[in-house]
Amino acid sequence: MDIKIFDTAKEASKEVFHEFEQALANGATTFGLATGSTPEDLYEYITASDLDFSDATALNLDEYYGLSADHPESYATFMNKHLFSKKPFKETFIPNGLATDVEAELARYNTLLDEHPIDLQILGIGQNAHIGFNEPGSSRETKTQLVDLTDSTIQANARFFDSVEDVPTQAFSMGLASIMQSKHILLLAFGESKAQAVKDMIEGPVTEDVPASLLQEHPNVTVYLDSAAASLLS
Ligand code: F6R
Repeated sequence: MDIKIFDTAKEASKEVFHEFEQALANGATTFGLATGSTPEDLYEYITASDLDFSDATALNLDEYYGLSADHPESYATFMNKHLFSKKPFKETFIPNGLATDVEAELARYNTLLDEHPIDLQILGIGQNAHIGFNEPGSSRETKTQLVDLTDSTIQANARFFDSVEDVPTQAFSMGLASIMQSKHILLLAFGESKAQAVKDMIEGPVTEDVPASLLQEHPNVTVYLDSAAASLLS
């Protein structure tokens, strides 16, 4: 793992933006994308730039189960608002939160991932060290799965909803095996609330109880931190 520490999230995000620039220049065509607060600055840098994604494919990590694509808090809405409406891609994919045949939806997404191997994958990290929505204890063998969100994740995401009861309790997520197949992974973590998860990811043992720690076994991971998220590193 390559670790890069910046004073602020904005500075770190600017560097990640340059990684996108570089990746496109080197012929990358397929991008794995995340939602949440963490990549917002990155997406702002991308939409303000003249980078051209019109030949690129985007596959998102996850979607809440039970939310329609046009629900204000669905990840489809988030991506349209922060990126796709301003920076067109050739094609974009995200799990269908309203899929009634769950197995068929998992198979559909796995086929998409097989057909579109990810060149550059963006990850955030949960306070419990989840990546995507692969919560502690997720198997490293999993491909796309329907996940029961933990209380920690539901509480952390309640800020986006009117009340904690409105937060979906399940989500579709690319699995750990799918994420590990990406050629290059950039994990971003900002703020003090991520400091313990970051320490466990980088300095702790590799264990499914700390899903992000599996990234220690990936050959091409760069971690972008602000100083608060890096504050517990030794
Ligand atoms: C979102 C995702 C999650 C988030 C994580 C951090 O697509 O896969 O793993 O990256 O929950 O969320 P924020 O950035 O809101 O702190």
